[in-house]
Amino acid sequence: MRLVIENLEEELSEWLFLEYRHAAEIWNGALFTNVSSRKMAERLSMYGRVDPRPCYEVFRPREAVVLDPKAEKPLRRRDFRGREALIIGGILGEAVPLGRTANLITARMRGARIRHLGEVQLTIDSAALVAKLVEMDMSLEEIEITTEVEVRVSEVESIYLPYGYVVHEGKLILTPGLREYLLKEHRR
Ligand SMILES: C[S@@+](CC[C@H](N)C(=O)[O-])C[C@H]1O[C@@H](n2cnc3c(N)ncnc32)[C@H](O)[C@@H]1O
Repeated sequence: MRLVIENLEEELSEWLFLEYRHAAEIWNGALFTNVSSRKMAERLSMYGRVDPRPCYEVFRPREAVVLDPKAEKPLRRRDFRGREALIIGGILGEAVPLGRTANLITARMRGARIRHLGEVQLTIDSAALVAKLVEMDMSLEEIEITTEVEVRVSEVESIYLPYGYVVHEGKLILTPGLREYLLKEHRR
């Protein structure tokens, strides 16, 4: 099973890059599909393979598990059996999810196993981590997920991230580099 990130953002912002890099590290590499920009491809190729084609041209539905918040069924370890690709949307979270995974991936992968990871909208890398923990035999019920994370950017100011992040063994797993990035942006 390998991680496939279907890029659906036009620009590789620093935030998106940090999430992609972390997701690829969790899965020991990734295939980034739908990457048409040469600049984006160059940067991502340090962390995985890059393909300009969308995922539905690279994999047949029966080879794939698609993670979609709108799926009817939760992800279970057995869902990985006999499948080659775990597809996650390369989509930055929206405060109110727009259903882009369903419209842009699931709708084109009819016949794939479409699964959710609970009710909370996770970041790309957190979705990759939850899937990895499920692959390692944890159930979704056993995985602690935040609904919001506070990042202090000064003595009196905080940024609230309204996304799901994993708390593993009592430790919040925030995207590496994100706190520093938010602090830098705040100081600008
Ligand atoms: C930040 S989410 C973007 C979701 C997007 N706002 C939408 O409405 O579809 C990025 C990706 O992580 C995965 N993901 C995040 N939360 C999920 C959940 N609760 N269940 C299944 N997949 C999830 C999906 O593959 C999704 O495309």
